[in-house]
Amino acid sequence: MSTPFVVAIDGPSGSGKSSTARGVARRLGFGYLDTGAMYRAVTWALLRREVDTGDAAAVAAAVGEVQTVSGTDPDAPTITADGVDVSVEIRGPEVVAHVSPVSAVPEVRTRLVELQRQAIAAAGEGIVVEGRDIGTVVATDAPLKIFLTADTAARAARRAAEEGSGDTAATAASLERRDQIDSTRTTSPLAKADDAVEIDTTDLTLDEVVDEIVTLVWERR
Ligand code: DC
Repeated sequence: MSTPFVVAIDGPSGSGKSSTARGVARRLGFGYLDTGAMYRAVTWALLRREVDTGDAAAVAAAVGEVQTVSGTDPDAPTITADGVDVSVEIRGPEVVAHVSPVSAVPEVRTRLVELQRQAIAAAGEGIVVEGRDIGTVVATDAPLKIFLTADTAARAARRAAEEGSGDTAATAASLERRDQIDSTRTTSPLAKADDAVEIDTTDLTLDEVVDEIVTLVWERR
């Protein structure tokens, strides 16, 4: 079996990664892996165990017990933690408030990066993987790396719509807080890989972004 073609898509919250990654995967018949959902699922499982997410040593000690499984069908991505379907819970405010400190803990990253590499190896023809460190850590040899950006107002408007929240200002503040933690953490901070193609999605439609990436895949295959 040949190695799957990996499209790595990184960028800050609300840059359009999830819709873009799913759209690209559908168009190409590829799998889709949402690594943010994995960090969220681990966070949910730690909260359920009443682990203090501000205590990195406690998080590191507990993460080995958590089992998460990701389904990679772009039409119906799934995520479970300890056998429970958590696809709705991981989008809730409690998980959102705790996911950045949890994802900064090196032991959490080591465990999830291993699971992500297993999912990539098991993909058929290709897989679109979205996150913060896919191009820089998880799949450094991916033949196509994309770094999506958008200005804060556009990102907050999209995330507020996704979360069904009318308070765009609060969403913007929460996004900027998470970006700050995600970009400045010591282990695998959010960063653009040197060989990534940067796309600013502020003034583009979803279809335009998907078209651009699909064209790049065709060129590089
Ligand atoms: O993409 P998202 O908003 O679902 O990600 C949730 C959190 O997980 C985000 O605050 C950063 C973290 N994350 C990460 O550290 N590394 C990844 N590859 C994906 C997400």
